[in-house]
Amino acid sequence: MIEEKTIPSMTSEVVHDYLRQIGENWKGQGCAMELGCWLGASSIPLLEGLVKAGYDLDFWAFDRWKATEFQIYEAGAVGVKLKLGEDLSERYYENVSEAYDEILTFPGSIPDSLANFSGEPIEICIFDAPKKNPVFIKSIEALYKYWIPGVTILGLLDYYFYAAKVGDNREDLKIPVRFMEGYSECFTRLEKFPSTGPAFFRYEKELDL
Ligand SMILES: C[S@@+](CC[C@H](N)C(=O)[O-])C[C@H]1O[C@@H](n2cnc3c(N)ncnc32)[C@H](O)[C@@H]1O
Repeated sequence: MIEEKTIPSMTSEVVHDYLRQIGENWKGQGCAMELGCWLGASSIPLLEGLVKAGYDLDFWAFDRWKATEFQIYEAGAVGVKLKLGEDLSERYYENVSEAYDEILTFPGSIPDSLANFSGEPIEICIFDAPKKNPVFIKSIEALYKYWIPGVTILGLLDYYFYAAKVGDNREDLKIPVRFMEGYSECFTRLEKFPSTGPAFFRYEKELDL
């Protein structure tokens, strides 16, 4: 296992363990991707699990990879220095390629950058950037046709993010919850981490958007 302590993270250990487990249960039916990868803290455990399961496809990674003030602060807390506006895509690749090196990185804004996706079946789809509209619904629209009923796992890492917020921001951050509740017949909830944010679902039945 790769030592994660030096990689700044916006996700918790317990979620990393779950991502590793999802990877280990890869069924060989489609690729894996993450939208909102930052420096790789959540991609790495997923990739470690995937490697254990014999994953042999490209891993699709999307992010702006431009360091923000908030990211500089978060990284600084674990001794990693970033510069404002720094391109982080190389750091991401360096971090994750120790686990798996068939990584396709697409710097830029989601959902526009999703136009680079090949359109192959997706087995594992992790969202850690789309949490408000229009980005959330446009990301769903760009990808759901490639999800496999009964197989694909959708991880929404900011699912419970709204809970600590108030006012319009809370309403905006509830978009993923409203979406999943509105299409509850199409998904089974597999796991939830209300204290840290994520929820994981299996796509069961074709969405009709
Ligand atoms: C919460 S952080 C990801 C943390 C990472 N998954 C981890 O576990 O450490 C969210 C990331 O999404 C990216 N992001 C947010 N909105 C975006 C957008 N519309 N397009 C591209 N990247 C975006 C940010 O650059 C940031 O790196």
